Amino acid sequence: MTTPENLSLEQKASLTSGADFWTTKAIDSAGVPSLMLTDGPHGLRKQAEASDHLGLNASVPATCFPPAAALGSTFDPELAERVGVALGIESAIEDVAVILGPGINIKRSPLCGRNFEYVSEDPLLSGGIGAGLVRGIQSQGVGSSLKHFAANNQEDDRMRSSSDVDPRTLREIYLRGFERVVKDAQPWTVMCSYNRINGVYASEDPWLLTQVLRDEWGFDGLVVSDWGAVEDRVAALAAGLDLEMPYSGGETDAEIVAAVRGGRLAEDVLDTAAQRVLDLVAKAQERPPVPGPLDVDAHHALAREVAGRSIVLLKNEGALLPLASEVSVAVIGEFARTPRYQGGGSSHINPTRIDTALDAFRDVAGNRVAFAPGFTFNGADAEALRDEAVVLAAQRDVVVLFLGLPDAEESEGFDRAHLDLPAVQRELVDAVVAVNPRTIVVLSNGAVVTLPFAEKVPAIVEAWLLGQAGGSATVDVLTGAVNPSGRLAETIPHRLEDTPAFGSFPGSFGHVRYSEGIFVGYRWYDARRMEVAFPFGHGLSYTTFSYGEPTAAVNADGDIVVSLAVANTGSRDGREIVQVYVAPEASAVERAPRELKAFVSVEVPAGSMREVELVVRREDLAYWDIRVDRFVVEGGSYRVEVAASSRDIRGTAFVEVGGDEVRLPLTAHSSITEVLAHPVVGPVVAQQLAAMREQADGAMDAGIMGDEAIMKMMASFPIGRMAGFPGMGIDRAQVDQLIAAANA
Ligand code: BGC
Repeated sequence: MTTPENLSLEQKASLTSGADFWTTKAIDSAGVPSLMLTDGPHGLRKQAEASDHLGLNASVPATCFPPAAALGSTFDPELAERVGVALGIESAIEDVAVILGPGINIKRSPLCGRNFEYVSEDPLLSGGIGAGLVRGIQSQGVGSSLKHFAANNQEDDRMRSSSDVDPRTLREIYLRGFERVVKDAQPWTVMCSYNRINGVYASEDPWLLTQVLRDEWGFDGLVVSDWGAVEDRVAALAAGLDLEMPYSGGETDAEIVAAVRGGRLAEDVLDTAAQRVLDLVAKAQERPPVPGPLDVDAHHALAREVAGRSIVLLKNEGALLPLASEVSVAVIGEFARTPRYQGGGSSHINPTRIDTALDAFRDVAGNRVAFAPGFTFNGADAEALRDEAVVLAAQRDVVVLFLGLPDAEESEGFDRAHLDLPAVQRELVDAVVAVNPRTIVVLSNGAVVTLPFAEKVPAIVEAWLLGQAGGSATVDVLTGAVNPSGRLAETIPHRLEDTPAFGSFPGSFGHVRYSEGIFVGYRWYDARRMEVAFPFGHGLSYTTFSYGEPTAAVNADGDIVVSLAVANTGSRDGREIVQVYVAPEASAVERAPRELKAFVSVEVPAGSMREVELVVRREDLAYWDIRVDRFVVEGGSYRVEVAASSRDIRGTAFVEVGGDEVRLPLTAHSSITEVLAHPVVGPVVAQQLAAMREQADGAMDAGIMGDEAIMKMMASFPIGRMAGFPGMGIDRAQVDQLIAAANA
């Protein structure tokens, strides 16, 4: 076994950057082979010939599974794990050691061009789906790369911009999902992001890459840079970045060698990084070769199943869906024939095949289906195509209208400037609905769009970007072969102006201030009691579910166990996503009205009932306390809501939770309120005050501390300052005595 001790300084340095676009360097003389890391995340992008990180050159055919935006809507980590297994198998067949994903950055703004590659606006859901994927991938002896660590929530200026985020928000929103995946699923690698965080490049941030990731979370894998994220190789290595990708032609390796020789970098820092590369190589070598060929059909079938589970039925007035088998259908919209099933950039998969909704429709409905494109992606021929579509719409029983965002409007590398569908499509909806009100809109988009026609059309299907089998999966849902169960992993707002980051996205002059703090996604809309088009967690089914009274109790581990019965009260088998939102009834810090703390996807046959049990982990109740730099669970009563969406609460229970102790030393800066809250001196002072009040019978003789109203005014007065005021009822010696007693 090669160790850093057997290697020269140059050899060790050479291990810590790539040999080419996708592989690490081999050291033949020491028996160290090279290994391949490649994209990811929702399929394998192994480039056989020319390489790039923009998805420009072709890669070997691979199954294109639904991107994360769709997968998130399944609310099902076990399903994600099955996708992970398939990704692992495809990587192993191609002898890829590490697949670059999952990406779990928070959808801070719906404008982020890469939201299609991310799971949710909520960290618990992002972390749960991310952990499922990692478990699945790594079960096949293939590594994953959890990315992009961290606070990479926009594409605009992504290689320079500083995400300026306060510590509590970072911990509770932007790091929490990463923490969960690291702790629950131990990814082999973590990929640092391009951006800076509070001024420091993620690639050079010892706090992020070493203190938080390794010391606090216990990560023992390798940190790889995003492709080209390294600005200063020596600083990056010292901060905890082990492997620079893609390659620097040996230049940065030489910088490391020079830094060690010049005493600017301790050699053991390099040894540690080299050892981590060697560990990764060793892990990858443990996997026996997987011969293939790939079972293309089986993976396509899985892609179809997952796509079906990802679709969110937003609206279904008069039970227009599923389509009755005898209706004649006008299928309108270019997306039905030319599906948009994945996003642009480094995640662009070369699919093994593509199902279109139009073909799938024709397979089940034959000539009851007629098609008109309705528009082109670039907006050309708008009038003629619209007129043709309107004529067709008028002739048929129902219209299924496929709308969405063309490739050019949404991609890695840039953000959207607005949330609207292209004007040609918006005009088309109006024209079609005017001649046929029985119009079902199906959306193809990687992130939410505004839906100005939501009141006008009876049914809307959010079909995201669904991967290569999305077309057939969409028809499965439209015809009822699949009963929809997807739920919104991101809120659909009415207007861009309503969104939490509006006004501070994407920032300017290299800085973006996360001014909304912890109030991201539904946390924002709920705190402000704002109307939204469709809330987080929303999604309809072709059946109905009723919830029994929930119970909630704290178990021996301090977790909250929530139990309830869920009954399928309709006439079709279906799947319900039960969500648990929790909030303390009182808190020392600003809290969102409710936060998702547990969820489960449960299949319930028609007319049956299932008992479900959900566990809210104690650690997920905690807020980040900036006074002591750690997570703290507050004691007291917590409201536990079981819900079908963040705005459809079906039952509430209350549970008493024991808090973590936060003992801060009392100082002259401590306020009266803090003195009274102190476990040792607080009760004594309170008793003295009561006695003084009684003695003085409300008169001023007892000093200010004897008067209740004035005491309220004085609540935040530092005790050290009180001694300086006459008539306060306390002198310097007493203050010192109090402090000494408290800290004894
Ligand atoms: C992306 C990463 C990707 C890498 C390699 C970068 O531009 O941000 O997500 O894994 O390229 O293609």
